[in-house]
Amino acid sequence: MNTLILGNFIDPTSDTQCQLHRQKLLHIEDGKVRGLFPLEKKDEFDLSKIEFLDYSNHLIIPPFFDMHFHWVQDDVRMMPKDNLLTWLEKYTWPYEHKFSDVDYSKKRAISFSKELLAVGTLGGACYSSIHSHTVDHALEHFQGDFIVGNVLMTMNSPDYLLQKESDAIEIVKDLSTKYREKYALTPRFAITTSPEVMSATADIVANTNSFIQTHLSETENEIDFVLSIYKELDGFKDVKNYTEIYDRCAHLGNKTIMGHGIYLSEDELRVVAKSDTVIAHCPTSNGPISEGGLGSGLFDFEKTESFGIRWALGSDIGAGPYLSMFDVIRSFVEQNRAQGQDKATFIKGLFRATRMGESILHPECKASFLEQENTASMLFISASDELLKLDSAEEILEKVITTCSRDSFDTLVDKVWHQSAFL
Ligand code: GUN
Ligand code: FE
Repeated sequence: MNTLILGNFIDPTSDTQCQLHRQKLLHIEDGKVRGLFPLEKKDEFDLSKIEFLDYSNHLIIPPFFDMHFHWVQDDVRMMPKDNLLTWLEKYTWPYEHKFSDVDYSKKRAISFSKELLAVGTLGGACYSSIHSHTVDHALEHFQGDFIVGNVLMTMNSPDYLLQKESDAIEIVKDLSTKYREKYALTPRFAITTSPEVMSATADIVANTNSFIQTHLSETENEIDFVLSIYKELDGFKDVKNYTEIYDRCAHLGNKTIMGHGIYLSEDELRVVAKSDTVIAHCPTSNGPISEGGLGSGLFDFEKTESFGIRWALGSDIGAGPYLSMFDVIRSFVEQNRAQGQDKATFIKGLFRATRMGESILHPECKASFLEQENTASMLFISASDELLKLDSAEEILEKVITTCSRDSFDTLVDKVWHQSAFL
């Protein structure tokens, strides 16, 4: 299978570097990138043997990696939000309970996989409910490159989601053996998962090459609650902060993704950095209640980066209201600029929503999605002549994102190419 695609490629390779290749030819053979060529080289290809696709009126960008989302929270995205802990108890947990039904879960996984594709999310880190089949269904149906984990809830949880410790450990043993590096050990957060379960399961996944993901320091009353619980538990009475709880349970490391990390002290940031733990930042989820978020606060990316910590963007569906990573990028730029933070560019947002996530799942991956030998994978965004005439990738992205309404972002992705064909 041999294809030549004519288009305009936006190629973010770092926070500040993003090549714009106008009217170039991408050669794809057997699902792999063979090279990017100037339009004048078209005659050198034997067009009787190569499929030629003219997308000269499109922008082509790498696929999105959503590094923190809950696929079982699709229906609570627009539920009233007050604060994290009440939203969980009132809406989210009762909803996740529905996924105990295997048929329901399967049906929803199939429909959610279509939603992911529609917004161009082809990879990322995903939370399911406590039920092991919700991991199976996600990994079976989502197309692309996802890690998935079942949340663990062995304390401070409603009866209908509360697990026996031995059952929770058994599920982790089964699924981490079955899915290995596609699996993420996922204590919901320290409030709902006993330290014994966290420690025992960390030992298990140390041998399966799996990831670990959980929530850390998302809101201030969550932090107070966590510390009030752990200060009563043996082995934790002298614990100084939230990060230290996970550290004592062997949960930090270069395959760990912590959601949020908004309120970390400098001591905690040092520990996160030293362990090479990653943070998933979810600006729409953390954003104002009036904009559909939980009002948790704004993550300080500049300070986090100054400690050398890796971070990437996530939608945090359903605390985040929209699945499109375009909306997440918009929110990241807008909230930071409103604070006078001018390093929050659209290029940075695009990089943190695409290649950064892929590099967390695959540290060996190449910087550019157009690199020879890469699996061909990309999103097609239709573009007017006027848009394509703008001077830079930053201006083009800004125009695309700021002229789209929030509930129309899912219409921006025209087509998704993966390997040898459109999906
Ligand atoms: N902390 C614990 N569980 C959750 C969840 O489902 N969503 C968010 N945003 N934070 C959490
Ligand atoms: Fe979350």
